[in-house]
This record gives sequence, structure tokens and C-alpha cells, in this order.
Amino acid sequence: MSKPGALDLASGLGGKIEKDDVLSAVEKYEKYHVHYGGEEEERKANYTDMVNKYYDLVTSFYEFGWGQSFHFAPRWKGESLRESIKRHEHFLALQLGLKPDQKVLDVGCGIGGPLREISRFSSTSITGLNNNEYQITRGKELNRIAGVDKTCEFVKADFMKMPFPDNTFDAVYAIEATCHAPDAYGCYKEIYRVLKPGQYFAAYEWCMTDSFDPNNSEHKKIKAEIEIGDGLPDIRSTGQCLEALKQAGFEVVWEKDLAVSSPLPWYLPLDKSHFSLSTFRLTAVGRFITKNMVMALEFVGLAPRGSQRVQNFLAQAAEGLVEGGKKEIFTPMYFFLARKPLSGSQ
Ligand SMILES: C[S@@+](CC[C@H](N)C(=O)[O-])C[C@H]1O[C@@H](n2cnc3c(N)ncnc32)[C@H](O)[C@@H]1O
Repeated sequence: MSKPGALDLASGLGGKIEKDDVLSAVEKYEKYHVHYGGEEEERKANYTDMVNKYYDLVTSFYEFGWGQSFHFAPRWKGESLRESIKRHEHFLALQLGLKPDQKVLDVGCGIGGPLREISRFSSTSITGLNNNEYQITRGKELNRIAGVDKTCEFVKADFMKMPFPDNTFDAVYAIEATCHAPDAYGCYKEIYRVLKPGQYFAAYEWCMTDSFDPNNSEHKKIKAEIEIGDGLPDIRSTGQCLEALKQAGFEVVWEKDLAVSSPLPWYLPLDKSHFSLSTFRLTAVGRFITKNMVMALEFVGLAPRGSQRVQNFLAQAAEGLVEGGKKEIFTPMYFFLARKPLSGSQ
């Protein structure tokens, strides 16, 4: 499948938002965040609006720069970004012990990059749950092209209130998605409810690490940059996630921040001092070219007004992520494998 080009990027900008309303959506989105005077409580109370605006605005930038899987990965020397992303997805499938024909749930599935890879790797049927209409439309098209549209489906719903009966799935996973939940316990409890007893839930969570100091102003600035740049109500600590899992009823089999043992840093592709031809669009030069291209597309009316502003907050996110990674106060790969006990009730 070829990479999307400049015109694909321009036509997808704004997602399902009317092109004339993109600029006001950007302004409204920005106002939710600390840099614009926004409060955590307001972001949590309006998480559906905030997160959906975010993904309508950024999805085509993500696909243009990163690919179909919207997540980071630990990386070995000599491994390409693409290879590391696939390996990170296979790792989840292996941890869950997926078997052919099992019914699996992908919570917060994006446009389905991981879903297509994991379903082909494990011969399972995967349901992708996502609350963003634009991403689902795009994901269905990509599933059809990849030939997995008979075994995999998308369901549009909020992961805080899933439209599935109790004990439906043989396995559940979430990749860098449940960080958008206004409350981790509420989200994990829903996952627990739809998972069959004795079965497993595995995830990669975005978390602040134990090195994060909530009284350090630089740390607070980095956290706020990641929140605005990535559509997050509040980034939880690894300890808070672990506690929420246990409260929801799960037994934690094992957990680890995979960033700690990654031979190459996960944020390398976003680091301005790094240059790579294979991830050229993510490098400082590549981003400079994209920035000018978006400016030109917006000027001639091919991209909606507000597109450059989206690119600005994504650039801010990249800075926050790289700084958070370098200072080891933030991780996008806090991994855990959890089991719903056999005696687990709803
Ligand atoms: C960073 S993306 C990760 C997507 C996918 N897991 C991947 O790795 O490609 C986060 C995803 O979570 C979804 N999401 C956020 N909040 C949600 C909610 N309340 N209910 C369902 N999906 C949600 C977003 O729409 C987006 O698709």
C-alpha cells in the first residue's frame, strides 16, 4: 500500500468536520488545554468532544507522517521504525496467547493498523472499537484493501460504555488509547465486563513515570505539551494505572515500562537531531517541508483554514514527547498483562 501524498493529506484534513468549521474547531480544541487556560476537570467532563475534535484534526497528519499504526515501539539497532512497530504488535498477540478463530477486541483502534497486523499474525477475528467516525470510515476502506473485511469489523462507541454483552471476548488489547479515558478505573471495568472469565487483557499505556515531579515547573510544562498535542485529559502515573486495574478486579500477571530496556529510544524518530531517509517526513527537514506544503495548500484553499494551527500543536507535542522521553518522566509503553479471574463476576 503506497504512502498517502500531499493531496491525500489535504483532503483528509479536518476529518468529518465541515471544511469551513475547521478553524473554529481548532480554537475550541486549544481552549481545553493548560496553555490556553483550560482545566483538567473541563477536559474530563467533555472528553468525547475534546478527543473527537483532536482525531478529526490530526488523523491525516498521523497517516501521512507515521503510517497506519498510531503508536510508538521499543526499537533494536538495525531495525526500521516500521519493523519495530509490527514487532510491538506481535508481542501483544504473543502475550495474550491468541489462537486461531478467537474473538478479540481492540479498544481505541485508530484506523486499524494494529488490528490488520494482529488478525493476520494470529488468524483471529478482531473487533475494533473506536469513537471517531472519520477513523472508522478510513479503517473500513483499509480493511477492504487488505482483505480482512470478512473477519474484522469496526464498532463506533465509547470505551467507557461498550455496546457488548458481558463475557463476550476471548482477549482484549489496547494500544496507546485508554490514556484518553477520563477515568482509568471506569474504562478498565468496562474491559473487565466484556472479557470472558479466565482470559487476558494487555495494553500499552501512556504514563508519567516515578521520575515525574508534579512540583517541577519544567516537568509540568512537558506534561501539558503532551496533553494538548495528543488530546489527553490528564496523563496518569504508572502506579495509578496499576491500582485502577486491580480495583477493576484484574489480577496483574506482569507489568513493565518497556521504554527502559529499549536499545534505541522510542522518541528517536521525533528527535530533531536525528536524520533518517526511511522516516524522512518525521525529521526536522521533512517536517519543515510538510509545514511549508500545508501553508501553501491552505493558502490556495486545498487544505482548510486552521490546518497550520493543527500542525503547530503537533509540533509542540513532538517537543514535549522528546523532552519527556529524554528526562524519563514519560513513557508511551507502560505494558501490562492482566487476567480476569475464572470466578470473575461483573
Ligand atoms: C493514539 S490512537 C491509537 C490507535 C490504535 N490503537 C493504534 O495504535 O493505531 C488512540 C485511539 O483511541 C480512540 N479513542 C479515544 N477515546 C476513545 C473512547 N472514549 N472510546 C473509543 N475510542 C476512543 C481514538 O479515536 C483513537 O483511535
